[in-house]
Amino acid sequence: MKNPSVKIAPSILSADFANLEKEIKLITAAKADYIHIDIMDGSFVPNITIGSEVVKSLRKHTNLPFDVHLMIKNPDLHIESFAKSGADIITIHAESVIHLDRSINHIKSLGKKAGVSLVPSTHENILDYIINEVDLILVMTVNPGFGGQKFLDSQLSKIQNIRKKITAAKRKIDLEVDGGINNLTAKLAVAAGANMLVSGSYIFGSKDYQKNILSLR
Ligand code: DX5
Ligand code: ZN
Repeated sequence: MKNPSVKIAPSILSADFANLEKEIKLITAAKADYIHIDIMDGSFVPNITIGSEVVKSLRKHTNLPFDVHLMIKNPDLHIESFAKSGADIITIHAESVIHLDRSINHIKSLGKKAGVSLVPSTHENILDYIINEVDLILVMTVNPGFGGQKFLDSQLSKIQNIRKKITAAKRKIDLEVDGGINNLTAKLAVAAGANMLVSGSYIFGSKDYQKNILSLR
């Protein structure tokens, strides 16, 4: 293991949806750190995935923490059901809510870790007034909606700037990167300051999940 402090969160968006139980068990055995679950509503992003009932039914098949990424409009309406379904981290998009501070505190009031995600066109300064509240910051390195897209190098300076903000805040905040992560872009993201990597197609597209997870660290 090259860098055990880099945590890997395979995105089941690229898993075989007809065999999610099996996929979750395989990815757990392959020593992932989290299970990244992409929730899409066909409105905030141009794709539809799964809801909290599916998350709940997956909960019994692994002890790994569930990293739930809500790419939905009005996430406040659904935070509670995802909390009940067994999410450990609930990440909302800054672009999807008006009262970001309130939404973060809603997640935390349910005993869950609160994450905030930014799409590629959103400036990182939006984080300045919530940096003392948030547990995780998720930088999208593709336009969200689909797996298998190309990593946007334009986001590297954003990752660096957010790492500086986290250091200045003197708080334990995970800096997660999502989109187009493979063995090459993982190095760039970690060098820029990320400590948590989401990866969908690179892991699930391979025959050996464990080998590819290891190659990301
Ligand atoms: C994209 C999702 C990602 C996606 C990543 O909107 O948020 O989690 O599954 O897939 P890859 O790693 O294939 O870019
Ligand atoms: Zn995601």
